[in-house]
Amino acid sequence: MTDLLELDGEVLQDYWSAALDWVRDAAAESGARRLLDLGAGTGTGAIGLARRFPVAEVIAVDVEPGSLELLRDKAAGLGLGDRVRAVAANLDEGWPDLGVLDVTWASMSLHHLADPGRVLGEVLAATRPGGVIAVAEFAEQLRFLPDNLGFGRPGFEDRVASVRAAAHAEVMPTLGSEWAPRLADAGWEVTGEREFVIDLRPPADSPGRAANAGEYARVWFDRLSRGLADRLDSGDVATLDALLDRDSPQFLLKRGDLWLHGSRTVTLARRP
Ligand SMILES: C[S@@+](CC[C@H](N)C(=O)[O-])C[C@H]1O[C@@H](n2cnc3c(N)ncnc32)[C@H](O)[C@@H]1O
Repeated sequence: MTDLLELDGEVLQDYWSAALDWVRDAAAESGARRLLDLGAGTGTGAIGLARRFPVAEVIAVDVEPGSLELLRDKAAGLGLGDRVRAVAANLDEGWPDLGVLDVTWASMSLHHLADPGRVLGEVLAATRPGGVIAVAEFAEQLRFLPDNLGFGRPGFEDRVASVRAAAHAEVMPTLGSEWAPRLADAGWEVTGEREFVIDLRPPADSPGRAANAGEYARVWFDRLSRGLADRLDSGDVATLDALLDRDSPQFLLKRGDLWLHGSRTVTLARRP
């Protein structure tokens, strides 16, 4: 998943900046010294937090050593190696000793956990009174394509979205769910929620950004082709193949009509 996470941080940098600025502002007066990025992936959040809290230590926890390796390299390259600490841990197996926390950022990660309610309680216990947690979650899944692709049956991306949603519901029942009630159940006091709309039509005068958005779409559909193609009908499988075939005139990166849109919700809560 590392390539997708890296592209997410690059292509959706406006979303990331706005969301992390909001977290910084919420924790501004607390003098936060130790922050956690829970399920940090390749570290877009951890690095963004280290930049926004210039004297704080940021602990990035993830179960994937490969992601953490990348995160460490990126932090070192940016001169943040002494303040961003990567910790490999499987949170399904218990809470690692991370000391007392001031701020936790959990982006798209809680829905991967077997018992996110338990982990929210463990974060609470590790957080000092008045400390903050921010949970980012998909609200509307990302979309890239027009309804009519000019080939295949219209409605391709709608069908793909329902296949994805059904497959995810089987293995990640909390994906896309509301976190405010779960935070409250775990003992947190919910203080705010914001929806961040993603609406990116790459400008013609920014070919680098357009190429990154196209590459994001390619990696997204490539993962789909490897994971879910057997749930699509043969017509949609042919459409997917054409979109991913670099030699096809329908190849995603040759299209001029990609439109990356969706939304994410960030829920803020504090330890009473
Ligand atoms: C969708 S990614 C989000 C990464 C990052 N927070 C972001 O928003 O870019 C989910 C992350 O949760 C991590 N994760 C999944 N299950 C985990 C577990 N049991 N313990 C720790 N991390 C886990 C994955 O390895 C992955 O990096």
